Amino acid sequence: MRKVRVAVVGCGNVAEKYVPHLQRSTAVDLVAVCDPLVDRARSFAQAYTIEHTFQDIDQMLSTLDFELLANLTPMPLHAPINRLALEAGRNVWCEKPIATDLAEAQALLSLAQQHSVGLWSAPANPISPPFQFMAQALSTGTIGRVFAAHGIIGSSGPGWPGSAWFYQKGGGSLFDVGVYNVTLFTGLLGPAQSVVAMAGTAIPQRIINGEAITVEADDNTALLLDHGNAVYSVIQAGFVYAAQRQDWTVQLIGTGGALTMGGYAWEPEEISVYRGDQVRAPGQWETFRPQGQATYVWQSGATYIAECLAKGEKPLLSGEHAVHVLEAMLAAKRAAKTGSRVQISSTFPWPLLAHERTTTIGRKAI
Ligand SMILES: NC(=O)c1ccc[n+]([C@@H]2O[C@H](COP(=O)([O-])OP(=O)(O)OC[C@H]3O[C@@H](n4cnc5c(N)ncnc54)[C@H](O)[C@@H]3O)[C@@H](O)[C@H]2O)c1
Repeated sequence: MRKVRVAVVGCGNVAEKYVPHLQRSTAVDLVAVCDPLVDRARSFAQAYTIEHTFQDIDQMLSTLDFELLANLTPMPLHAPINRLALEAGRNVWCEKPIATDLAEAQALLSLAQQHSVGLWSAPANPISPPFQFMAQALSTGTIGRVFAAHGIIGSSGPGWPGSAWFYQKGGGSLFDVGVYNVTLFTGLLGPAQSVVAMAGTAIPQRIINGEAITVEADDNTALLLDHGNAVYSVIQAGFVYAAQRQDWTVQLIGTGGALTMGGYAWEPEEISVYRGDQVRAPGQWETFRPQGQATYVWQSGATYIAECLAKGEKPLLSGEHAVHVLEAMLAAKRAAKTGSRVQISSTFPWPLLAHERTTTIGRKAI
């Protein structure tokens, strides 16, 4: 397999996870790291033997030959940095969300098309073996036709130094953790057509690093997605959930059975399946640990895209899905604010079954 030259922009917490994951792939040549806090970039370069360090993204894009940018900067910088990289003819993997504004996200997709490069964004959970196991089960009718799904995801909320922004405008539990279930349910049940929602601030003040902060974003959201044909999914995402059973956080119910997913949707774990039409005790469910489950981690996305580029394979993930998830979340916020049902107009290539990928993408010459 040929190696794809990759550069990382943003050398913070998330880069600590991404960089070693990228470095382990035989398809990746991690050639540069970039951060205005240049000591951060240098320490990554030293620890992982990365040849180039940059302080400025424009300089990296104009002077270095590479094929894929992993954008791991703070949320407000996702769209502007994605734009610069796409204009410079680079493929882009971006941490979630792809942009904070829907029009900008759609403009970025058009820009990628115009420059014949790809744009993808976290979450990457549709490539995880448990997701694929569930998608196969749905497509083969293992539990009949599925009309109902629900998932609950969250925690007591971030509290580490530097985490105040999670509670400020643009943060919130829906965008931080609900995004994983919105990706999961749209990925399994198909694009959402409309949404109703409730969202609120349950705990108006938090202490972060010894300092009191006012909570401006939602810390408790419930939304109901309509996937068409009377298929509905319910998602709850909060920073006010102290405890939850981890052996199932997601359930899908069909006309011929039901299945549950263990773990949270950022790193799905075992799947339990019941075939039949009775209410059954846990002992009567079959539990599966899909092959490769343990190798999937939430930071897999950039490495996966690099590997697809190296193999000339069309990725299962798409920028269209990321934009759809963004639209669904923004629509949920609007629905919660106005108390009305909000339509969702975007869509994406679906279903997301790994074995159905037939077309290929080529290498963009830079
Ligand atoms: N922290 C988490 O647990 C987590 C998990 C999943 C996803 N994410 C997402 O990943 C992204 C990064 O999160 P993080 O926790 O690593 O943030 P962070 O603040 O730790 O790191 C961001 C880095 O980007 C750098 N940066 C700022 N401006 C820049 C610029 N113009 N050019 C290049 N670099 C610049 C900062 O100096 C910093 O080193 C966020 O969008 C976040 O939502 C975070």
